This record gives sequence, C-alpha cells and structure tokens, in this order.
Amino acid sequence: MKILVIGGGGREHAIIRKLKESPRVNAIYAAPGNGGISKDAQCFGLAATDIKGVVSLAKELAVDLVFVAPDDPLVLGLVDALEAEGIRAFGPNAAAAIIEGSKVFSKDLMQRYGIPTAGYAVFENAESAIAYIKEQNSYPTVVKADGLALGKGVIIAENEAEALSAVNSIMSDRIFGESGSRVVIEEFLTGPEVSVLAFTDGKTVKPMVSSKDHKRALEGDRGLNTGGMGTISPNPFYTDEIAQECMETIFLPTINAMAQEGRSFKGCLYFGLMLTPKGSKVIEYNCRFGDPETQVVLPRLKTDFVDIIDAVIDETLDKIDIEWQDSACACVIMASGGYPSAYPKGLTIAGLDDKGQLEGATVYHSGTALKDGEFVTNGGRVLGVTATGESLEAALQKAYAAVDKIKFEGAHYRKDIGR
Ligand code: AMP
Ligand code: GLY
Repeated sequence: MKILVIGGGGREHAIIRKLKESPRVNAIYAAPGNGGISKDAQCFGLAATDIKGVVSLAKELAVDLVFVAPDDPLVLGLVDALEAEGIRAFGPNAAAAIIEGSKVFSKDLMQRYGIPTAGYAVFENAESAIAYIKEQNSYPTVVKADGLALGKGVIIAENEAEALSAVNSIMSDRIFGESGSRVVIEEFLTGPEVSVLAFTDGKTVKPMVSSKDHKRALEGDRGLNTGGMGTISPNPFYTDEIAQECMETIFLPTINAMAQEGRSFKGCLYFGLMLTPKGSKVIEYNCRFGDPETQVVLPRLKTDFVDIIDAVIDETLDKIDIEWQDSACACVIMASGGYPSAYPKGLTIAGLDDKGQLEGATVYHSGTALKDGEFVTNGGRVLGVTATGESLEAALQKAYAAVDKIKFEGAHYRKDIGR
C-alpha cells in the first residue's frame, strides 16, 4: 500500500512510525511533514488545510489511503473531498468532525442524549455572557470559545475580573478569530483528567489504552495551557471499573447519538474525561488522535495498524481483535523557550543522530526542520522524547535520560511528567 499522511507534528510522526511497522505498507508520504518526519516519509510542502492541493497530490501519487490527522482539515471537509474523488481516507467527514469543531454543538449533543458533562450556557454576545457571569457569581468558572483555537480557547477564570476579561478577549477582541463568535460558560469541575482515544466505525467503539496529558506549561500544573507538555500511558487513575462505566455512560451513547443525528463518526474519537467525585464526565471531544497522546498510545499497539484502519473504513470494527502491549510509555515534550507565547525558530538541535533519533528512546519530531543537513527548531513544541518500559517509572527514567542528551538554546520541558 501507498499511504499519504496529512499533518506535520509529533502525532503524525508517531502515526507514520506505526504504519511503517505494517508489512502491508511499502510507501509513506507526508504533507507537510517536518524535518524529522522526512527521515521516515517523503514530504510535500503543502498545508494540511489545502483541500484541493491534497486531493490532487493524492491522485498524483496514486495512494491507496489518505490518513488525515489534524482537526482543521477534518472540520473543513478534507475527507469528504477525498471520498468524492473515490480516494479512501481515514478520518471523520465534516458532518461528524463538528463534534470538535463546535463546542456549542458538542455540549448540546451531550445535553440532548444525557451524556455526563459540566453544566453550561451559550452566549452570542459579550453583554449577555457578562450578565450571566455576574448573576452566577461563582468561581472558578470556565469560558470557552465555540470553535477551534489551537487548544488555547479555554480560560479558567478565578474571579469576576478574569472572567470578564476572558469574554472580552474572545468575543470583542476576537483573539481566536471567528471561533469566538459564540462562547460557552461552563461549570468548573475537579478531578483527574484522562484521555481515551477510541477507534470507531460509527457502530462499534473500541477504546485504545488510556493516557494522561499534562496541559499546563510549567511544573506543578502552573502556567498557561499548551497543546500538551507530556503524556503517560496507561493513565493510573483510569481503572477497569471506570472504563466500564465510561463505556456505558459516555462512549457508546456518544457513538449512537452521532449516528442518530445523521453524523455517523468514523475514525478516531478522542474523549477528554474528568473523573469527578460525581462520576466520569466529558470535558471535551476531539475528532482525531491527540497530540502528544498518540506518542504514548500507538507504541503500545500490537495489532497491524493498517488492518484496524481498514476495519474502521469498511465498518467491520466488530470483527477485529485489537491487542496492546502490557507495558508503560512516557513522552516528554521539549518545547521552544517562550512557548506557548512567542518563541524563536531556527535554533540548532544537538544530540540527535542523522535520523533525528537517539539511542534508548524514540524521538517524535513535533516542530523541526532540516537546515544544511542539521535539525533546527521550527515550532513551539519541538520534540516528543518517548520511551517504553515495564513500568511507568522505567519508561520515565529512559525518556528523561534521553532528554538530558538533547540540547537547544532555551529548551524548556517539564521535569514532573508522570509524577
Ligand atoms: P479543553 O480544550 O476543552 O480540553 O480544555 C482545556 C483544559 O481546560 C482541560 O484539559 C481542563 O484541564 C480544563 N477544563 C476545561 N473545561 C473544564 C471544566 N469545565 N472544569 C475544569 N477544568 C476544565
Ligand atoms: N493533547 C490534547 C489534544 O490533542 O487536544
């Protein structure tokens, strides 16, 4: 098979590495890919959101499958465009991707179908949102932009001033653009967070092994929200009992609700959960693999990834057994100094071999480029340094030992991943 993977981060690198293990695959291409990915796949300099460009590239390369990894092309309908041309694609169509594309949609869906989530209200203008916040007068409160915002559209406000400033920056200043034309004001929940990625063909849902992201920029869960500073799998808080509860109250009801709405979801559905004192609740849905969750989940997959992709597309997921390694995996993100705010690019990365790797770990490249044959930084999140071990402790030790050997100016990483 020839496969084209759309996207250019650490998640896509992990997907490509796993696809390469399949004896069924003989060529992998990526658009746009990145410096590190170019060592594993031929890269084409095309934006993931260039729908027409991707369709023509897929035709030109005569690929057997296009794997669409990021949220924005999915929400924009890349899978619909590919299928319209008879090209096989992995990922939900636009009608289903709205589960991530609009928080108003997903909250209303959960409310209609009785799926547990935080209480909420939706506002179309700043004045009514502000009036509601003042009337509720309960803090912390959570302010969310409706649309996609690179994982940064959620503000936890500790007091009235912060809440009003959040509403104003989202709705009046439009710091997230059109994503802020509506806001969701949400009840603040507490408890451990769990990420569960699940394969689904619209009828059957098969959750993958669980993971835990560390979203804040600084140790001790302080600082700004980021795309994710590190992950571990499995998530120690997610017991078999909780998994069973989530299957009954969240996973199956969500798949069935989407089917009933005429928005059957095929692909990877990401359940962002919070294990609250009142049971497990949905914090968010994503219409795709998580980043950096994928970097710790896929290494543990034993079953041929391509067989699972086929089963999702052909709606035969009920017929396939998916096996996982009984190991632990840890990923530490090395980010550019300043991330998630402004950061420099083009800094030389020392410590990697010519394949962008390092003995004892797997280095998934998130934001790197090749300059005169050398790896340089080219994004906020730069590398996901990942290791597998018999225990979480062993995996973390290996990952951090590798992190110690990689250097670039201003490199920033959290020392408490998995702690
Ligand atoms: P989201 O982008 O929706 O995943 O939100 C980003 C992060 O904000 C989540 O991972 C949570 O840590 C936090 N968060 C979102 N919604 C809530 C909520 N209702 N209560 C408490 N924390 C929340
Ligand atoms: N790591 C969080 C996300 O992929 O949305």
